[in-house]
Amino acid sequence: MSETSEILDRANKVLISNYARLPIVMVRGEGSRLWDSDGKEYLDLFAGFGGAVLGHCHPDLVKAATDQARNLWHVGNTFYTTPQIELAERLNRFAFEGQAFFCHSGAESNEAAVKLARLRGQEQKKWKIISLNKSFHGRTLAMIAATGNPAVRTGFSPDVPGFTQVAPGDFDALAAAVDAETAGILMEPIQGEGGINLYPPNYAAKVRKLCDEKGITLIFDEVWTGCGRTGKWFGHQFFADENGKPITPDIMTLGKAVGGGLPVGVMFAKRHVAKLLVPGKHGSTLGGNPICMAVSRTIFDVIARENLLEHAARLGEHAISRLRNEPRIAGKVADIRGRGLMLGIELKSPPEKVVEKGLARGIVINLTAQKVIRLAPPINITRADWDRGLDLLVEVIEQA
Ligand SMILES: Cc1ncc(COP(=O)(O)O)c(C=O)c1O
Repeated sequence: MSETSEILDRANKVLISNYARLPIVMVRGEGSRLWDSDGKEYLDLFAGFGGAVLGHCHPDLVKAATDQARNLWHVGNTFYTTPQIELAERLNRFAFEGQAFFCHSGAESNEAAVKLARLRGQEQKKWKIISLNKSFHGRTLAMIAATGNPAVRTGFSPDVPGFTQVAPGDFDALAAAVDAETAGILMEPIQGEGGINLYPPNYAAKVRKLCDEKGITLIFDEVWTGCGRTGKWFGHQFFADENGKPITPDIMTLGKAVGGGLPVGVMFAKRHVAKLLVPGKHGSTLGGNPICMAVSRTIFDVIARENLLEHAARLGEHAISRLRNEPRIAGKVADIRGRGLMLGIELKSPPEKVVEKGLARGIVINLTAQKVIRLAPPINITRADWDRGLDLLVEVIEQA
């Protein structure tokens, strides 16, 4: 038995099979590269569902984690610790004025946001949340009720009450779904799992106005779009009203990239909303752990220092134009879309084993919504690696 099949054999005995895992054991990573237990090298064009936003084992993040680990490991939230404050200060600098609650995942940050929206609506008996079809908000019981994909709910009924979905981008449908009990609207600035779906211009501005008029809490789920992925710090920074005034949510939730691969979730709320979360209303034993916070804080510093927003925006535009002008795949591709390094290539029909074919050629890619190939490499991938990855991707699509 080879070493790899021995590991797979052990894994299948002791790990729950809730993931459709590929029969590959990853053992090492550096930058945008990964190596498996057979020594094969891969170019990582998906960064672990967007988590490894600065790639694997970035020296600054390793240093931040190890320095912090030597200094203060965990004390819980009965005490203040400076890495939490430093991260929240960066969110104030790069997003909007607000206050942070820390947890470990995207689903948990959305749970906290929904609790806060309900708390805010409590006096007016507002408790319902509207989200969008094709959305994804996490795997907890409330978040599968919020997610606009019925498949994630199958087998877990009864559904948590108070959640409905409407068609994404259809403002009239959203406005019609609002009633006197609507507490919040929850949406991703760009839908990730749903297939890299953008909204029509002005949609977000109209949603913001509706929320202001009706006293509804607007929650942007930036778990996919946050922290530089789209070529801006946050996906909502692409939105503005008719006068060019930036649109901000009442609450923004983060996961994935905000931890760079470590388990960090953030619910970041404007002060007038955040102040409702008084002691006893919500909490997390390990949330805001100093090591995770030190890494997260450093992610913002590296992105700013190395101008990675501009880099991600440039590489994204380059990829879209390169792939749109590639005659070898023109017959197979229905659409190419996205922002920065959050890209979707929608094929005309569902491809066979496209992820496996990518791996065989040495690239890690993802398939979502049956026929959308997703790319989300580390945003510091070099231009040369990106070009090589795109060349290999073209070959994979050509043979799909
Ligand atoms: C937009 C969005 N929100 C929330 C989640 C859930 O995040 P987590 O898996 O960290 O709970 C995801 C996961 O893919 C996501 O894409």
